[in-house]
Amino acid sequence: MRALVPDAGPAYSGPAGESGEVLSIRGGRPLRGDVEVKGAKNLVTKAMVAALLGETPSVLRDVPDISDVQIVRSLLEVHGVRVEDGEGGSIHLDPSGAATAHFEEIDAYAGASRIPILFCGPLLHLLGEALIPDLGGCRIGDRPINFHMDALRAFGAVVDKSYEGIRITAPDGLHGAKIELPYPSVGATEQVLLTAVKAKGVTELRNAAIEPEIMDLIAVLQKMGAIISYEPNRVILIEGVDSLRGYDHRAIFDRNEAASWACAALATDGEIFVRGAKQQEMLTFLNVFRKAGGWFDVQEDGIRFRRDGALKPVMVETDVHPGFMTDWQQPLIVALTQAEGTSVVHETVYENRLGFTAALVQMGADIVVHPQGIDSPDRRVPRRSLEQAAVINGPTPLHAADVVVPDLRGGYSYVIAALAAEGESVVRNIGIIRRGYEKFLAKLDAVGADFDVIG
Ligand code: EPU
Repeated sequence: MRALVPDAGPAYSGPAGESGEVLSIRGGRPLRGDVEVKGAKNLVTKAMVAALLGETPSVLRDVPDISDVQIVRSLLEVHGVRVEDGEGGSIHLDPSGAATAHFEEIDAYAGASRIPILFCGPLLHLLGEALIPDLGGCRIGDRPINFHMDALRAFGAVVDKSYEGIRITAPDGLHGAKIELPYPSVGATEQVLLTAVKAKGVTELRNAAIEPEIMDLIAVLQKMGAIISYEPNRVILIEGVDSLRGYDHRAIFDRNEAASWACAALATDGEIFVRGAKQQEMLTFLNVFRKAGGWFDVQEDGIRFRRDGALKPVMVETDVHPGFMTDWQQPLIVALTQAEGTSVVHETVYENRLGFTAALVQMGADIVVHPQGIDSPDRRVPRRSLEQAAVINGPTPLHAADVVVPDLRGGYSYVIAALAAEGESVVRNIGIIRRGYEKFLAKLDAVGADFDVIG
């Protein structure tokens, strides 16, 4: 035991006992033990916004105690939604007192999260206007919002950009629309769903994202009374209804966190049982994990992960679902530094999501990033102008370094690299990791990581 890490108590006590910003990590020992994953960050935060659409209160279960959830909770509260903690990680959301918030109140959350953009549709239906602060989220590229704004305009919304932020109104109400996304964006698909469910008439969304978290959001909305059908070829049809009620829903598990711990077992040559992980939503990850030399056992209540002999090089292209998620490549790359041969990871979703590898190079990894990607006859995903490629030559021993966490997934991978490295590393800015990993330090402790909180 290296740090006093009491288990966080009630769901919203804040990441209790997890306030450390700087860790000193002694690496070189395998991680072994159990961790539990709760509801997916990328569903829970959206389902919380959906509660604004209901005429009665909602209950969301398996809510993780992460800072992104706390930000959305605060934003709902400044809009008059009552949010209370329930039993066993559930929250109750009562939108009956919802009202327009003052810009200064909303602006306090500027730069903190991407989720405020999804308040547009529900606020337009409820109050006739939406004020949106500057957005945040991980700095992994430009992260424009043009798809969102174009979709809102197609529903009849008017978008005014001012120096304060964005003000959106719907003087003639919102009506169903035919929308084709230029790219199957997760956020823009959610924007369309959250707006179309109460718009007048039918909305046809083409080139929609179909991530499991989106399917779970559709399930939430259907429980509320929405009529949504999923057609072949990324087409979603939404028939607008006049009113929706609250929901009671258990969030889909966090497959990104599950994949992160799986890669931690792979990189440190340990063995981790991820309680709550399910196979169906991780099929693509499990294939790559196996090809890279990983072993897994799917059980009733979770999945056990470890190595199966020497690690092998792989070629991976990140993609929208059902492809290999962009959020999986960072911890995988740490493991690939220990594979015998040359691996190639193409990042095709974001334009700047391989920058984190610079710190791995500082730790002894042999990784070359090609900013324009590289051509290869084996490509599965069509080339995107955004893409980058990382070429990883292994195995290279990793050694300790002093590194600063740049973003959520990159940050997690630094901690894993430090745990796989010989010597004592310092990892700073750990707070970013708590945006998406619940009880992070407690879980590290549970799998036997050797660390101290030093700042
Ligand atoms: N894009 C545009 N214009 C837009 C919206 C998106 O050009 O208006 C581009 C983006 O720049 C990017 C691509 O489309 O190149 C895909 O972005 P998408 O909209 O799908 O991503 P997102 O909704 O902003 C969510 C997750 C990300 C996850 C991606 C991809 C949340 C809060 N975030 O982001 O999760 O990587 O989908 O699956 O759900 C994370 O958890 O660390 C994280 C970054």
